[in-house]
Amino acid sequence: MPAIVLIGAQWGDEGKGKATDLLSDRIDYVVKFNGGNNAGHTVVIGSEKYALHLLPSGILTDGVIPVISNGVVIDLAVLFEELDALDARGVDVSRLLVSANAHVITTYHRTIDKVTERFLGKRQIGTTGRGIGPAYADKINRVGIRIQDLFDENILRQKVEGALEQKNQILAKIYNRRAITVDEVADELLSFADRLKPMVSDTSLELNNALDAGKTVLFEGGQATMLDVDHGTYPFVTSSNATSGGAATGSGVAPNRFDRVIGVIKAYTTRVGAGPFPTELFDEWGEFLTEKGAEFGTTTGRVRRCGWYDAPIARYASRINGVTDFVLTKLDVLTGIESIPVCVAYDVDGTRMDEMPVSQTDFHHAVPIYENFPGWTEDITGVRTFGDLPKNARDYVIALEEMSGSRISAIGVGPARDAIVVRHDLVG
Ligand code: GDP
Ligand code: IMO
Ligand code: MG
Repeated sequence: MPAIVLIGAQWGDEGKGKATDLLSDRIDYVVKFNGGNNAGHTVVIGSEKYALHLLPSGILTDGVIPVISNGVVIDLAVLFEELDALDARGVDVSRLLVSANAHVITTYHRTIDKVTERFLGKRQIGTTGRGIGPAYADKINRVGIRIQDLFDENILRQKVEGALEQKNQILAKIYNRRAITVDEVADELLSFADRLKPMVSDTSLELNNALDAGKTVLFEGGQATMLDVDHGTYPFVTSSNATSGGAATGSGVAPNRFDRVIGVIKAYTTRVGAGPFPTELFDEWGEFLTEKGAEFGTTTGRVRRCGWYDAPIARYASRINGVTDFVLTKLDVLTGIESIPVCVAYDVDGTRMDEMPVSQTDFHHAVPIYENFPGWTEDITGVRTFGDLPKNARDYVIALEEMSGSRISAIGVGPARDAIVVRHDLVG
């Protein structure tokens, strides 16, 4: 099973970083195919804790070749900061490959991200402020700057000039900000060119060759299904395809090469930023999940909104992504709850809906219909086999599996690298 896609099934922060790390001693390449440094993956290895944003989590395992493919938007200052920080901690970062077709995030993208959010007022998305949306907007508008442009100064200056022409008008006249000069942008980008050059390659060709040679490639999604620009809760989404289809367009590996799609899903639900969230809790149970699950953002430090597990969302994610296996994370966080509610369907203005409503307005009005499952009190963080979980925990997992559209192949029982119960092999 050489090509595996791993994606988030909810609104992000499901534990994709840890799941990637779990598989990484059996993979040869790990590819980040979407998003940028809006992602935040925490991986705990022994007493060491790593927070990754732009680099794929598999970089932490010796021998794995990390790849940033064409679908990513790259803030080069962040890339080098992250590489230097890992290098200083003894992680081998020398094999990183970067696609010549990936787009860059520059000063004006970050500025525009922040001013547009401020301008939106109450309609804010709550972005990470990293310039992600404006960089993807430029890509779609065909005024983006690509990694390969950094190696031809003439072309680069022309492209930056073209990109700034309209933006400076908008920044100055609408947002009352100072205009940005071509030189400040071009000079900053050029300052990275020499260091970047040896990493740049045709990553699509590299990955296809690797697959031809029988290597195992893991495509690690940033963000998640419900934040996908096409399939998520638009406009409260990120600006890339975080679903499994994005792995193909975002890497230049064809869809028929993917053997497996792993959906990472929490045993409850969280969301950062604005937008609809039917099972969100505003009572002490919300606080319980925030505290016990340590639900604070890895990237912006914001408190994550918390709620119960939402089975229609799990089914939706299963369908949209073609999930073959779920990794259910953070089951340990639910320990000690006497009766655990699970959303099985929605009530939308008096009508029962078993699947995600097609209209955003209906989704905003969706009131969860809950079924309750008996909880457990035993500490499960040391459990390593399914049979050793308390009966109620097993029943909870089996109930979720029946509702969620795909089998649950692994279960997270703690943040540590080995705190996992594997039911079905995820790679073989
Ligand atoms: P990602 O963005 O999907 O990689 O997820 P994040 O790293 O942003 O957030 C997940 C958090 O949950 C991290 O702090 C992980 O260390 C932690 N985590 C992952 N799996 C488990 C688990 O099974 N139990 C507990 N308690 N924590 C977990
Ligand atoms: P990982 O990979 C959770 C959210 C932001 C905001 C919206 C748009 O760690 O799961 P953006 O800056 O992307 O334009 O913000 O998307 N968001 C995330 N939420 N986890 C993430 O990544 C996220 N990346 C973006 O909070 O609501
Ligand atoms: Mg995260």
